[in-house]
Amino acid sequence: MSVVAVIGAQWGDEGKGKIVDLLAQRAKAVVRFSGGDNAGHTIVNPQGEFRLHLVPSGIFYPETVCIIGNGVVVNPAVLLAETDDLNKHNVDTNHLFISDRANLIMPYHIVLDGLEEKRRGKGALGTTGKGIGPAFADKTARLGIRACDLLNREQFRSRLSTILELKNAILTKIYDAPPLSEEEIFLQYCAYGEKLAPFITDTSTMLRQMLSRKQPVLLEGAQGALLDPDWGTYPYVTSSSPLAANAALGCGISLKDIDHIVGVFKAYTTRVGGGPMPTELKDKTGDFIRERAHEYGATTGRPRRCGWFDAVAGKFSAQLNGFTDIALTRLDVLDVLDTIKICTAYQLDGQIIKHFPSDVSILEKCQPVYEELTGWKSATNDIRHLKQLPTQARRYISRLEELLSCPISLISVGAERERAIMARQIG
Ligand code: IMP
Repeated sequence: MSVVAVIGAQWGDEGKGKIVDLLAQRAKAVVRFSGGDNAGHTIVNPQGEFRLHLVPSGIFYPETVCIIGNGVVVNPAVLLAETDDLNKHNVDTNHLFISDRANLIMPYHIVLDGLEEKRRGKGALGTTGKGIGPAFADKTARLGIRACDLLNREQFRSRLSTILELKNAILTKIYDAPPLSEEEIFLQYCAYGEKLAPFITDTSTMLRQMLSRKQPVLLEGAQGALLDPDWGTYPYVTSSSPLAANAALGCGISLKDIDHIVGVFKAYTTRVGGGPMPTELKDKTGDFIRERAHEYGATTGRPRRCGWFDAVAGKFSAQLNGFTDIALTRLDVLDVLDTIKICTAYQLDGQIIKHFPSDVSILEKCQPVYEELTGWKSATNDIRHLKQLPTQARRYISRLEELLSCPISLISVGAERERAIMARQIG
């Protein structure tokens, strides 16, 4: 294994946590490079069942360095609650490090996320409400407060003072909301800083040293390609790039360092929040998939919209990311279906198209064109070798490989770590 990036290939929630947990066995470092605590990675392993929002999924391996990279926005309260909970379950977190360049989520980001959504009314994006959009907007507007500021109180106070003056003007004058107290935020964040100080460091230097020793590194993506601010269903997207191209940038290594890019696809499609989803099933089959697979958000608990595999969106994602391998998750969810559909094209104004439109008002008009395959109607949870999968399941997998032009190297058939079929070595 060299440097492997694990990327969400659809609209997030593809089961990246499990794939990272599996691949992390061989990694010396696991690094988060984008997003924030809008992510929710569910991991089921011998230590229990965990929902991680910020801590990299490699935390369960005590020898593995876990890094929250510069590309992540960090809510220190959430991070501390998460590490406390892990510690309570006897999971050591002393091997976790936070980039000194990571921007912090501040209380006004969360308040503004809520107010902005309310203001959008019917056009609300359905954000997770964690302050992600406002925090990334401030990063770009050069109004961010970074982890390194927590180590320098004078600088922190002065930056907070300038920024909060502006935020309070927005809160009171635009939203008619109460202002936030500078003193309270300052003291609260100084307390977080004291607890986090031992872990805040120049993580990119750490990583580069590991790379020079040829140590295997895993880059853990969050969200999914179709939520990318440039390439996703804009404006129904998140605010940082979940794509492989951002993996190097979000942790401070070079693009050339990445050897393998694993795209994680669910065997069907889900989406939470607003925005178009051409293969959404607003019928009994959609409800059946949701209940069978317990498709409810790990971060917000919202029901996920469920539908058939969209190979048009999938191919677009595979090309943008340059996947070298695919990990297909939740194949077992389809075990009981008589027939399974794959969307291979869209019908738009009487024409068949095979590309993913940039404009959501056009994507909303696209009707899926389906290919129908016979289901395999038998349990796959206990299968560990590709050859043992039912013929129809193998046919489904090969058809996806063909449509996505990429080999499916790993197939997940259940939540637990061992419920996986390694068809091809990754890394
Ligand atoms: P935000 O990232 O909270 O600003 O939310 C923007 C959009 O991205 C909303 O539609 C969210 O539901 C979606 N989103 C953000 N994070 C995730 C995730 O981890 N999984 C799935 N959807 C997400």
